[in-house]
Amino acid sequence: MNETLKIIAERFSCRAFDDRLPEMEKLEKIALAAVQSPSALNRQPWRIKVIIDKEFIGEMDIEGMHVLSEAGDKSVYERFMDRGGRLFYNAPCMFLILQQSGAEIDTGIVSENISIAAASLGLGSVICGMARIPFESKNGDTFKQRAGFEIGFEFGVSVLVGYAKKFGVPHEPDSSKISFIENYSKLS
Ligand SMILES: Cc1cc2nc3c(=O)[nH]c(=O)nc-3n(C[C@H](O)[C@H](O)[C@H](O)COP(=O)(O)O)c2cc1C
Repeated sequence: MNETLKIIAERFSCRAFDDRLPEMEKLEKIALAAVQSPSALNRQPWRIKVIIDKEFIGEMDIEGMHVLSEAGDKSVYERFMDRGGRLFYNAPCMFLILQQSGAEIDTGIVSENISIAAASLGLGSVICGMARIPFESKNGDTFKQRAGFEIGFEFGVSVLVGYAKKFGVPHEPDSSKISFIENYSKLS
């Protein structure tokens, strides 16, 4: 297996980060990998905000957990309480991907580039859709302002990045979901 395929195969969603802040050099490399992503018509319909502010991430975490605790269905809140009570798993860094409306596929590609780049640099990561919650809460406008939301851009997804405290295993790939629709005789 080559190095790229090995990194793809070994990547896992990290849900426990230690207190170390990743080196700025690594974060810059990951940010560059993010904007190297392909996009439809090369529109690059994104903004990448690299939030390296534990206090800010912590405040958004508390807000998000509070929103979940008040939801009619408590199952999501309980799942996060079982995982340690933190929506963002103590991550020291959040790559926030803002997108233009309708750019979900482009955003998804950026998030995977970030995750793969992080793994290649020895860092853990988890794509985190739950980061939407604080931005949509009653204090959302303040969080958006602090995170540098720009006019015409909305929350896309986030990727939490840091050194893994606990190593995980990736999900078992299900090859039964793959079909090859082939007809080699036509090619020869
Ligand atoms: C669009 C998207 C949103 C996700 N949001 C969250 C999230 O908010 N919190 C979380 O812990 N994991 C989140 N994940 C991670 C998935 O749960 C994880 O990729 C999946 O369980 C497979 O596990 P693996 O990544 O370890 O192989 C998200 C993944 C994707 C692609």
